[in-house]
Amino acid sequence: MTILAFETSCDETSASIIENGVKISSLVTATSSQIHQKYGGIIPDKAARAQLESIIPVIHEALAESRQKPETIDALAVTIGPGLIGSLLIGVESAKALAFAWQKPLIPVNHLIGHIYANWIDTPKPPEFPALVLLVSGGHSELILMESHGKFRLLGATRDDAAGECFDKCGRLIGLPYPYGIFIQDKAKEFDSTNHTPFLPRPMQNQDNFDFSFSGLKTAVLNNLNNYSAEKLAYELQEAITDCLIEKTLKAIDRFHPRSVLLAGGVAANKRLREKITILLSSTKISLFIPEIRLCTDNAAIIGSAAYFNYLSIPLSKVSANPALTITS
Ligand code: KG4
Ligand code: ZN
Repeated sequence: MTILAFETSCDETSASIIENGVKISSLVTATSSQIHQKYGGIIPDKAARAQLESIIPVIHEALAESRQKPETIDALAVTIGPGLIGSLLIGVESAKALAFAWQKPLIPVNHLIGHIYANWIDTPKPPEFPALVLLVSGGHSELILMESHGKFRLLGATRDDAAGECFDKCGRLIGLPYPYGIFIQDKAKEFDSTNHTPFLPRPMQNQDNFDFSFSGLKTAVLNNLNNYSAEKLAYELQEAITDCLIEKTLKAIDRFHPRSVLLAGGVAANKRLREKITILLSSTKISLFIPEIRLCTDNAAIIGSAAYFNYLSIPLSKVSANPALTITS
């Protein structure tokens, strides 16, 4: 089955053609990141305007790159939420218009579930269930137990800021450039960690639940801004965030005995997180899945994959953007 998918939940405009949910035939993504760079954060109105301009060229390019024609597409898929309402509407309304014009089914996709399906793309062997998912992005930090396709059980979530949000807010405090997450990672690499003693808190790390809390870390970084170098702060922040994520993941592994563990979301691109979890699970029988970096951040291929494995074609009039969609809604 050939699916043409769209993703416009934040500042990316992405279209992809994907075969049977696992093989990318084309993936084209435009971003308005440079526009937001000078403001140090995403301006929703500017993101939506840029998406309005790029959606048609991006769709054309995705079709051209895969050498597909509308006749060979079986279905369309689109992110309906969560995300910025102006941005979501551009993807949803474009997809509805095309589905109507081409007379194709349209599959609505939850963006968070899309992130999880990055783990089904181009893998020699798909993840086995039950799968424990650590979903960490700019807006979400969740531990999810996936019992089968379409069956997601939320085990825990952040009580305040998401992990990506913490990277971003602290990156800004430290004086790093936007987009901050990757610059924290790069700055941290410049620090010589021999004899390093942790000085930031690891919030909720020892609590018997699967929740996270990252807003306190932001305050702790602010209070330490004048005490340490940018390299040391970046290193310690990355250690603190990844320690919290890993600790709760291990707790969930102990409790639920998953056959596979899946990383998902923009923060899954973080090299230190990837390294720590790889080392920890290397001595176990659990299969670890980590998407390639370009599939961790927002893109339409993951939306096409989620659509294939959770195929649900509903009348066009019922497809609508929902900025507050959750993993279980
Ligand atoms: O999944 P995503 O592209 O968008 C959302 O759905 O939120 O995630 C974006 C988040 C941002 O907070 C960004 O700073 C973070 O992912 N991020 C990283 C890295 N690459 C992206 N955080 C830490 N290290 C990275 N290498
Ligand atoms: Zn995302």
